Amino acid sequence: MTDKGAQYEHQPVMLEEVLDMWFSRGDGFYVDGTFGRGGHSRALLEKLDAQGRLAGIDRDPQAVAAGEQLASEDGRFQIVASRFDCLPDVVDQVGRPIDGLLLDLGVSSPQLDDAGRGFSFLRDGPLDMRMDPTQGESVAQWLARADEQDIANVLYRYGDERKSRRIARRICEERKEQPITRTLQLADLIESAIGRGEPGKHPATRSFQALRIHINGELDALTQVLEQSLETLAIGASRHYQLPFSGRPDREAVYSRSLRPGSQGARWFAVGRRNAPAAGADWQGYSCQQGRAESECSLAQCGVAGSGEGGLMSVPWLIRTLVMLVVISALAVSYSVHEARRLTDESQKLKQQQTRLESQWSQLLLEHSTWGSYARVERLAREKLGMKLPKTDERVLIRP
Ligand SMILES: C[S@@+](CC[C@H](N)C(=O)[O-])C[C@H]1O[C@@H](n2cnc3c(N)ncnc32)[C@H](O)[C@@H]1O
Repeated sequence: MTDKGAQYEHQPVMLEEVLDMWFSRGDGFYVDGTFGRGGHSRALLEKLDAQGRLAGIDRDPQAVAAGEQLASEDGRFQIVASRFDCLPDVVDQVGRPIDGLLLDLGVSSPQLDDAGRGFSFLRDGPLDMRMDPTQGESVAQWLARADEQDIANVLYRYGDERKSRRIARRICEERKEQPITRTLQLADLIESAIGRGEPGKHPATRSFQALRIHINGELDALTQVLEQSLETLAIGASRHYQLPFSGRPDREAVYSRSLRPGSQGARWFAVGRRNAPAAGADWQGYSCQQGRAESECSLAQCGVAGSGEGGLMSVPWLIRTLVMLVVISALAVSYSVHEARRLTDESQKLKQQQTRLESQWSQLLLEHSTWGSYARVERLAREKLGMKLPKTDERVLIRP
């Protein structure tokens, strides 16, 4: 770990949009679960009045140092060196429910820009990637001991890396020769395993994202804090989630497990950077192209904000949805009845037409057989008896 973190700046993502949904009342109690360098926190403090309170949480010691600085400047703010999935402890300390919780997940610019943290596949550094370098094992340590199958699973599950098996095999071959300890060593190795890949995207992008999510237990933490937020947010608070990628992790961990309908009148938003997640029954999706370069935002930016006014999942919203469903069903039924009548009329007309055609057909058959018999007599008379049809001036007049 380096001590250079303070020199790097972090540009907060979608500041205006986040504040719109995070802030609801000037005297409220707010939590910034991913303080970073406090870009969102500082902007929120500007909107709070003297009674408002904000607690920032971060597990990165360099972010905590930046938070301590802010706390010394503003008495309404406190920094907690912890993981955001310890949310209930923070709430217990403050003793009041949260009016808005913001989770801006992913790696911060200072973490990415500091090669010593090992997050970047473009800068050479130790292969670490821990948000809190004092806890747990680094990516290098994990890659040295993990099964080939486990490595492939992590790359596929958290990075949507379709060539995960090939990369895992290559990693296991390489580590027999020498330990994999550097970021560029791993990035080059991945490129040698799968080639250059998609234009404009480094072939190691997906793998680095997957390894970071895995080594920091990011999805478990996210799932837990979302569960906890149901208990700790003020009743009727609305929640706002920003998810700048729509890969498997956010869908699985966030939407299906945590965004449960009926949770305290919650209002959920999912914001996609590239592909807006489609709206669900209990959340809305929309896209936002602002913010950092994609390489810097490979994991979800996830925000939870409270409005204190109830939201989409509140009773009026349910009623609106039900009314809409009833109207749509009524329209569908009326259209079906109309269509059924039209088809019955059509079928009767066709039957009448069929009867008329059948009678015309019998008539034609009769005429055909009549004409057929005249022609046959003529032919027999000509062939067997040598007779021929008289010309008009050869008529024989027979008189009795
Ligand atoms: C994208 S940055 C947040 C930037 C911040 N919104 C700002 O404006 O400066 C994400 C931060 O979350 C922190 N973080 C990631 N996982 C965490 C966890 N489980 N608990 C606490 N902090 C976490 C990281 O250390 C990083 O500083």
